Amino acid sequence: CRSGVTVRRYCMKNPTKLRVSEAFLDAQVGEKVRIQGWVRSFRPQKQNLFLHVNDGSSLKSLQVIAPAAMNDPLLGFGCAVEVRGILKKSPHSKQPVELEAEQIWVIGECNPVDFPFKIKERHSLEYIRQFLHLRCRTNAFSSLLRIRSEATAAVHSYFKNNGFLLVHTPTITSNDCEGAGELFQVEPPGTTFANEGSFFSVPVYLTVSGQLHLEVMSGAFPRVYTFGPTFRAENSQSRRHLAEFFMVEAEISFTESIEDLTKVWKTAASDFTIISAYIFLSPLHLKDTLDDMLRKSFPVITYTEAIDILKRSSETFTFPTDWGCDLMTEHEKFLVKHCGNIPVFVTDYPHDLKPFYARDNQDHPKHTAAAVDLLVPGVGELSGGSLREERLDLLRSRLGECGLEDTYSWYLDLRRFGSVPHGGFGLGFERYLQCILGVDNIKDVIPFPRFSHSCLL
Ligand code: 4AD
Repeated sequence: CRSGVTVRRYCMKNPTKLRVSEAFLDAQVGEKVRIQGWVRSFRPQKQNLFLHVNDGSSLKSLQVIAPAAMNDPLLGFGCAVEVRGILKKSPHSKQPVELEAEQIWVIGECNPVDFPFKIKERHSLEYIRQFLHLRCRTNAFSSLLRIRSEATAAVHSYFKNNGFLLVHTPTITSNDCEGAGELFQVEPPGTTFANEGSFFSVPVYLTVSGQLHLEVMSGAFPRVYTFGPTFRAENSQSRRHLAEFFMVEAEISFTESIEDLTKVWKTAASDFTIISAYIFLSPLHLKDTLDDMLRKSFPVITYTEAIDILKRSSETFTFPTDWGCDLMTEHEKFLVKHCGNIPVFVTDYPHDLKPFYARDNQDHPKHTAAAVDLLVPGVGELSGGSLREERLDLLRSRLGECGLEDTYSWYLDLRRFGSVPHGGFGLGFERYLQCILGVDNIKDVIPFPRFSHSCLL
């Protein structure tokens, strides 16, 4: 009876198969049904056996009650089962329906001694992270994956509803958009980059940003976005850096000011957070605070003001706070607190801190660029963007200064033929999940984290 083959033989006579989430809808109460899933709790008692079965479709598991005689040494916490029985209304408000079992099949056993998760124990995210191949079987991580999936859909639905074209930007590219030297080079094994036989004949890398490809498309489509894996060879073990992360990037043409850009940016970040929060976070206390936070307008301060705030504070920082220095996580977190623990835009960074594409603020007394970062509670920098340098002469001289004029001749063409003022931003999807879920470590919001010295599975 335990083999899959035997189960299949009963197919024709099978009662309706329900997902656990469907079982909670009242429609099938009183009917004979079957469910398949994994045992998340197991309580044999004198008269009855109580199990909770989960199939990933819902945070809640379905309670199954069976006569004690149905207990079997193979049945236990973690094993995969099929249960057939009558779905009944339950007297307990927290558990609106339960399944009165007539038959239970153990489809896959689970040895409780070797299984790293123990019944009735609350395991920390750090503990379950040691078992990347098994952690989706815990309530905590499976909930997180459902939220991640829903938030992904919310991102796409926001952009679709707001007239953005989805562009699949390439994973393999010959450009280093950010110029920060954090590239992973791609070659088949055995090829050296100087070797004429190298696969692409030029050095190529895993993308650090889809921005330049979006800029190509923004010459014909005024609103474009992309959402995909992004790679940075950052040798960091921090709680907010990964070597592979997902980035949501948008590019908007005919945008002349930072305010135009931050307006779209704020609505995007708030809207897709609110959509996913409403659907999935409602049982959690986070919903109200998030809602409250996102409906407010976000303060906007310049980098120069930010430096003043840091300098005037009595806080001791590890990194310098002089004008011209990059803002570090400690500075970002302080600024968020200083502004009332809500998201804050920091604008007009020193020109030298930003990549070649950032628009030069020529009229500013200090040499700045029209670049913006969005800082959020708990995480610091969530998103970075800028107006792009659309003026051919300025862009050419900037590329010349960086020795990149030949490499980016195609990028200069974009300014030569029908150039328009435009800008965009990139938002780290994992940092966004950390922020809305209050998760401390970025490795706990991605199914398979990659970081220096770690690429398991
Ligand atoms: O600020 P960044 O480097 O901006 C860009 O790449 C622009 N080209 C985007 C654009 O304008 N289209 O990266 C954007 C965001 C950061 O704010 C951060 O949230 C996330 O990407 N990010 C990382 N997330 C996890 N791990 C890393 N190593 C990250 N590096 C950046």
